[in-house]
Formats: sequence, C-alpha cells, structure tokens
Amino acid sequence: MDYLETAIDLCRAAGDILNYYADRDKLVEFKGHANLVTIADKKSEELIIGGILSRYPSHSILAEESGATQSGAAVKWIIDPLDGTTNFAHGYPFYCVSIAVEEKGEIVCGAVYDPVREEMFSAARGAGAYRNGERLKVSNVDRLSQALLITGFPYNFRERLDTVIRQFGKFLVASQAVRRGGSAALDLCYVASGRLDGFWELYLQPWDTAAGHVILEEAGGRVTDFKGGPFSIYNKETLASNGLLHDEMRAVLVE
Ligand code: IPD
Ligand code: CA
Ligand code: CA
Repeated sequence: MDYLETAIDLCRAAGDILNYYADRDKLVEFKGHANLVTIADKKSEELIIGGILSRYPSHSILAEESGATQSGAAVKWIIDPLDGTTNFAHGYPFYCVSIAVEEKGEIVCGAVYDPVREEMFSAARGAGAYRNGERLKVSNVDRLSQALLITGFPYNFRERLDTVIRQFGKFLVASQAVRRGGSAALDLCYVASGRLDGFWELYLQPWDTAAGHVILEEAGGRVTDFKGGPFSIYNKETLASNGLLHDEMRAVLVE
C-alpha cells in the first residue's frame, strides 16, 4: 500500500471517529483562551498514529496534539486529527482530518477528509488532485474584484490584531466577498476545487497546510508567502490562490 492510500484510509477511519462524537459529549478542554481540544481530536490522532506506525514503524510523526514523536527518519507524517475544532465543538459542520507525508523535506502527498459531506480531497506530487476520484481544477476568476476569498484568524490574533484587521479590511474592499471558514485545510481544498478563488492566513501550523497546499498546487493553484516568495509549511505566512489572482492578492498584502 502506498503512502497516499494509507493517508486516505486513515483519514476516512478518523472521520468516522469525528462523526461518532459529533452528537455526543465532546469533553471540551482549553489549550489556550479560545484554543479548544476535544476527545475527538485525541481519539482521531491516536488512531492515525497507530495506523501509521503499525505499517511504517521507523517513520517520524508530527501531530498537533502529541507533537513530534520521532526524528531523523527520511519520511515524516504530518497530522491534524481535527482541523476546525471550534466549529466541531459548536456543531458547525465545517471541519476535517488532514494527513500529509514529507519525504526528504518535501511534501509528496496529502489527504484531507470532510466527514460531514463525505468528501475526500487528495493529491500526490506530480499526479494531480482529486475529490472523491474526480480531478480537481482551480477556478478561472482572474480579477480580484470578482473573487470569493476566504481567510482565518489565528489563535494569537490579539498579538497582531491591527495587521489581521487591516488585511481583512483591504481584501473586503478589493474582492467580491470574504468568508471565514474555520478550517484552513478545507479552505485550501475549496480553492483547489474552484469553490473559492483565494485564501490568506497568518501563523498557521505545519499540520494546517501540509496536505491542503499540495492538493491546491496539484489542482493548478499557487501557494507562497505574503511577498510571493517560496511557501514553507514551517513559516508563518500562507497566501494561496488559483494562480491568476496571486499577484493582485500579494499586492494587497505588501501595500
Ligand atoms: C485552526 C483552523 C482555523 C485557523 C486556525 C487553526 P484547529 O485549526 O485551521 O481555520 O484559522 O489558525 O489553528 O485548531 O481547528 O486544528
Ligand atoms: Ca488545524
Ligand atoms: Ca486540530
């Protein structure tokens, strides 16, 4: 079984866990002021890590709730067991499971599963992006004034409130409309699907973007930092678009 198949299988199994807890007590705890964790985050992560290590015992893991379990291996699995925990905790149905594989420093494949809509987004580098087996392609909207954008506010937004609100205001004025989804991984997959045209966010973590950015790139989109420089899942800026809007969006962010 290849890495992408494993990621897809484990995303689906973890999605069943999220579905199970969706209408049960979620045992919400606080990691920070507005940063929640539920029993579903923990059970989902446990299942995914167990599934990976049973197949690939020597691989590294970087997972949101348990951190980095090993280092030094050539292959690292990057896991967000529940992206959109705040949505999930409130019963707002927009969240997912995200699993990506990094090999020698490059993300080679990723899967993002929305258990509410039963949508599996996946991509392997160089082999295209898919949603439930159907090839994905970004939108062809080429003017920011006609674009539907999405963003997110990081948990530490209070430290950069001026910047976050200023950027939000500028995009609100320049675009057709802006949404705030609450799941960065799904936001990226929606741009990959052409449902949205662009996305930006500050201070995302590696597990938020690892799978979603490769899915978007394989669907023909572009992901960079705010200045248009190379994107890294370990850096703090994510600017993602259908490619056609990238320069206009970058100009808004660097103005
Ligand atoms: C969060 C979501 C949200 C984004 C936050 C993330 P979590 O992840 O992706 O959309 O705005 O910055 O931390 O905590 O729900 O896994
Ligand atoms: Ca996340
Ligand atoms: Ca999470």
